[in-house]
Amino acid sequence: MKIKSAEYAGTFVTVESLPQEDIPEVAIVGRSNVGKSSMINRAMNRKHLAKSSSTPGKTRTINMYLINKSFYLVDLPGYGYARAAKTERARWGRMIESYLKRREQLRGVILLVDIRHEPSSDDLLMKGWLEDNQIPYMVVATKSDKISRGRRKNHLEIIQKTLALPAELEIILFSADNGDGVETLLESISEAVAHQATEESPKEV
Ligand code: GTP
Ligand code: MG
Repeated sequence: MKIKSAEYAGTFVTVESLPQEDIPEVAIVGRSNVGKSSMINRAMNRKHLAKSSSTPGKTRTINMYLINKSFYLVDLPGYGYARAAKTERARWGRMIESYLKRREQLRGVILLVDIRHEPSSDDLLMKGWLEDNQIPYMVVATKSDKISRGRRKNHLEIIQKTLALPAELEIILFSADNGDGVETLLESISEAVAHQATEESPKEV
């Protein structure tokens, strides 16, 4: 998939206020500060499309980006932000849950983890949710630039095990820093978008 256009399409605080058109979307979930916004910017080849920051908890709202005028990438707020108030975390949980359960336009989810760390209990919970709700997902291990080539395989195995991923699921290695994995990620996104769209109305991506 070639990125021909990528436009900011709005910030939303509730699931009810999201756009109603029937445009497929792919959402990104992961811990706060894992690199969701940076992944969007790198993969879409736009430096400042999504706001990234070294301060965790930067994205607190649902931010949408319209790609190639044919699908939305959805940047969801990160979870596990330790300094967020309890009420805020509860609100987050409800929002994400209702988004994942009710959003009919949702074609797939990118679960983003940091290649350096063992996935958290929140990551595992998220993966369980996705499976329970039969939402197609892919796992992307980002910040691959932070560890040497020789150690990556071992880290991917730890992620595979900790998240109890199906053996056939291939974790996508990614780096927003050097662009590692962009092609593979874009192909997976395009497959996710095309998947159900072909059953209803064929859409060029
Ligand atoms: P929240 O919006 O707070 O949930 O964070 P986020 O998941 O959107 O993370 P964001 O993209 O803002 O990145 C967090 C920090 O990680 C920033 O300092 C980024 O520069 C850094 N970062 C993100 N991706 C990579 C990567 O692939 N490699 C390296 N070295 N740093 C990265
Ligand atoms: Mg962000």
